[in-house]
Amino acid sequence: QLSAAHRELQDNFDGMQRAERLSALGQLSAGLAHEIRNPLAAISGAAGILQRDAATPERRQECVRIIAKEAQRLDGLLTRFLDFARPRPPRREPVAPGSLIEAVRALTSHAIHRKPIRLEVDIQPGLPALTGDREQLEQVLLNLTINAIHASPEDGLVLLSARTEGTELVLSVQDEGHGVPSEHVGRLFDPFFTTKEEGTGLGLPVAHQIVTQLGGALAATRNPERGMTFAIRLPLDPQRHVQPSTPDSSRG
Ligand SMILES: Nc1ncnc2c1ncn2[C@@H]1O[C@H](COP(=O)(O)OP(=O)(O)O)[C@@H](O)[C@H]1O
Ligand SMILES: [Mg+2]
Repeated sequence: QLSAAHRELQDNFDGMQRAERLSALGQLSAGLAHEIRNPLAAISGAAGILQRDAATPERRQECVRIIAKEAQRLDGLLTRFLDFARPRPPRREPVAPGSLIEAVRALTSHAIHRKPIRLEVDIQPGLPALTGDREQLEQVLLNLTINAIHASPEDGLVLLSARTEGTELVLSVQDEGHGVPSEHVGRLFDPFFTTKEEGTGLGLPVAHQIVTQLGGALAATRNPERGMTFAIRLPLDPQRHVQPSTPDSSRG
């Protein structure tokens, strides 16, 4: 009984931590505001030159080009932010787990040419289709696989597998890489947590959000020997697990 109470406390605590992490979205907004200023300044500078009407045709051309390019940059920025802050509601379509893995294998083959790792696939035969959003699930598996490739040593094995466990479908990405020190495991799903020079630290939080939205769970474990395993668990019958969408009361 004591241990049940303890577990409940721990669960509450985890939930609180997660909520606190989401407040990192606030920080993300601050970063975004900063990133928006530069393109805006460029656009208004270029517009100013065009307005003064004294510029040569070449210079005017250049201004128009700057405006178009910077507007596009702003658009891309906004899309990336919205993907994170407000992922679109997942589609509900039948998705064959094997085809997901095959798609990710195809998408990562070019990355593998650059780094000699072994990518293997283990798909349990006769898996039922799951109901979910193909594009989002591919995105999640792809993020996990690319992380695994990044972490892998030369000739390391990256294993993508799909199997059922009880009423759940488990998709996992296992590697033999450098792994994550235990003190970092709890921060993996924090927005902006990255150990890579060019990392965004958004891959795992986005993946987590997508999987949760589908009524599933995403967990990271350190392998006993070396490397990491990231496992996506999805209910095989989402009807029972996913909250039915309520009439939209938030719009106003
Ligand atoms: N398979 C893995 N092996 C070792 N470390 C990993 C693995 N996957 C993720 N990580 C760690 O988690 C961090 C966050 O990953 P992610 O959210 O995808 O952002 P990014 O890849 O841009 O750094 C990585 O920088 C890395 O330190
Ligand atoms: Mg990543």
